[in-house]
Amino acid sequence: MRFFIDTANVEEIRMADEMGIICGVTTNPSLIAKEGRNFKEVIGEIASIVDGPISGEVKATTTDAKGMIDEGRDIAAIHPNMVVKIPMTPEGLKAVKVLHSEGIKTNVTLVFSCAQALLAARAGATYVSPFLGRLDDISMPGIDLISDIMEIFQIHGIETEIIAASVRNPIHVIDCAKAGADIATVPYKVLLQMTGHPLTDQGIEKFKKDYLAVFGE
Ligand code: E4P
Repeated sequence: MRFFIDTANVEEIRMADEMGIICGVTTNPSLIAKEGRNFKEVIGEIASIVDGPISGEVKATTTDAKGMIDEGRDIAAIHPNMVVKIPMTPEGLKAVKVLHSEGIKTNVTLVFSCAQALLAARAGATYVSPFLGRLDDISMPGIDLISDIMEIFQIHGIETEIIAASVRNPIHVIDCAKAGADIATVPYKVLLQMTGHPLTDQGIEKFKKDYLAVFGE
């Protein structure tokens, strides 16, 4: 399983990239709004940091296929690594079909069922993003959705990749890896949580103490 970072904050992206752990970025309208900056400017900066797929979503106010296609073409023109993120609706699927026929990569987002994932794949989506945490939030096991989509895609030889999204903690990440998700898109905070272990900290302290006792500074 590969890692994308789920943020539009360029500092977080730079720090995760420096650790060598991410190979792509996902953004969404809420994450872009949080930065309070121009969409194209932020996306352009992100693309200059990470050499991998960068998902930029069509405007939350654009709901018709034609609008999403026009915006999708604009987003794709920002950088060759751009992936157009499209919400899972009938109009969204029409847009995915057209963008796919033009060789533009898409990431179908807000996927909460296997039926939605299968339709998105058949429309030509490069990626589907099932939202794990938001299902957990309403007491439906999000991880089951990831494994079920994985199983269906394997049975039918579907090449659309699964990006496990709405990841909220390190346990989510490991569960996604066990379920066979191709990618997990993970917030910076969770990536940092994954680096830590109390025994690692204790071990570093002990090595330091033992070394200093014999060799000094
Ligand atoms: C996916 O691409 C979304 O940006 C994201 O994972 C949503 O996560 P949230 O449910 O924590 O907002």
